[in-house]
Amino acid sequence: MKLAVIGTGYVGLVSGTCFSEMGNKVTCVDIDQEKINKLHKGIIPIYEPGLEKMVLKNVENKNLFFTTNLEEAIIDAEIVFIAVGTPMGEDGSADLQYVLSVAKEIGKKMKHKLVIVDKSTVPVGTADKVKEAIQKELDQRGERIEFNVVSNPEFLKEGDAINDFMKPDRVVIGADSEYAFEKMRQLYTPFTMSHDRFIAMDIRSAEMTKYAANAMLATKISFMNEMSNICERVGADINNVRIGIGSDSRIGYSFIYPGAGYGGSCFPKDVKALKKIAEENGYDAQLIKSVEDVNNRQKYVVAEKIVKRFGEDLSGKVFGLWGLAFKPGTDDMREAPAIYVIKELVKRGAKVNAYDPKAMEEAEHFYLKDVEGVSYVKSKYDVLEDAEALILLTEWKEFRSPDFDEISQRLKQSVIFDGRNQYNIFNLEDKGFEYYQIGKN
Ligand code: UDX
Repeated sequence: MKLAVIGTGYVGLVSGTCFSEMGNKVTCVDIDQEKINKLHKGIIPIYEPGLEKMVLKNVENKNLFFTTNLEEAIIDAEIVFIAVGTPMGEDGSADLQYVLSVAKEIGKKMKHKLVIVDKSTVPVGTADKVKEAIQKELDQRGERIEFNVVSNPEFLKEGDAINDFMKPDRVVIGADSEYAFEKMRQLYTPFTMSHDRFIAMDIRSAEMTKYAANAMLATKISFMNEMSNICERVGADINNVRIGIGSDSRIGYSFIYPGAGYGGSCFPKDVKALKKIAEENGYDAQLIKSVEDVNNRQKYVVAEKIVKRFGEDLSGKVFGLWGLAFKPGTDDMREAPAIYVIKELVKRGAKVNAYDPKAMEEAEHFYLKDVEGVSYVKSKYDVLEDAEALILLTEWKEFRSPDFDEISQRLKQSVIFDGRNQYNIFNLEDKGFEYYQIGKN
């Protein structure tokens, strides 16, 4: 099939590339000329395992093209994906200006029947707005061209996005015409050959499915973080409690790890947007609000433990920090707990030596650009120089089984704050460490 994907951000680039990998001819569009120039040279704007190789291969095979010209991209496409950003607006709702301006542009330029797919995470009812925006342009042109608007939310996890796309758990499609369902089925069947994973539904339910999925996962995490805070106060161990409850197949083991709070591009934004959607529709979504409140508090839990141990005034103290990215496998620092922990320590006069396998540039040039007192160190053990303690915030594989003797020799004092409960199996107290984790005293 011939496809156009508008927006070469995370979702657009991964989706476009994976569609091309399956043999479709895909043209990816972006208004950012520099980004397109770089993609032409094989420079990928994000770090995602396996993506670069797949892009290069499909460009060479002439299945994948990049352009800034939307008209050229949709000229012989059958399906057009809208995958532009929906940043969080001032009031917490998703900002639709980019989605609607693309819709308008499609309405201005389309010349034949198209299926237009909302791939960006958008509030319930957006497909109707997209439809309206396109129809308005067609009416102005005096053209009568048929089109369908479809909702096809994405469920990609950063760091594992290629795998998620190539072997999806489910493909959710919201549409209001058999023709659109059929086209989408033809497109996605090669990805879901083993059994039918195609879930067809009405458009608003598809839009809502994305929010419900992310809110459910965020709820599991906030629930566990809440339990861990209670565990600490009653003398229980959340690690045992987690194993105890996960064994119930109705609960399950996934997404019940306590930690320093959830981050990333999806959970914080989507939970906030869902709260707003409910509010705008006259409903006070108390559980969703609490999920957010618990997470906001959780981001400070590691810093609170440090303050409790070293005092309110941390001036003159250095801390070594492992992990800046919001999770392993990505250079993404959006809403990363590290941002909050570092700012809190620096505010109290401390200096932080930080190391992350992928996210140091993001931190230095963007997320922590204006924060003084942070040094970015190229080797993980060098962050420990002159440091009072090691703080672990992202569970990258290379941090999971470190050389504790070296840690202890390099640190001024053998103290570890583990924001991801990675080291509780190593009996660190027996090795002479003071060991602080989440959900156990
Ligand atoms: C998530 C969803 O998984 C994906 O389906 C959706 O499309 C986009 O949002 P992503 O943001 O890439 O994907 O990361 P994910 O692996 O889901 O982790 C999100 C956050 O939750 C991370 O900060 C992670 O550290 C945290 N988390 C996850 C926990 O704190 N505990 C857990 O048990 C699991």
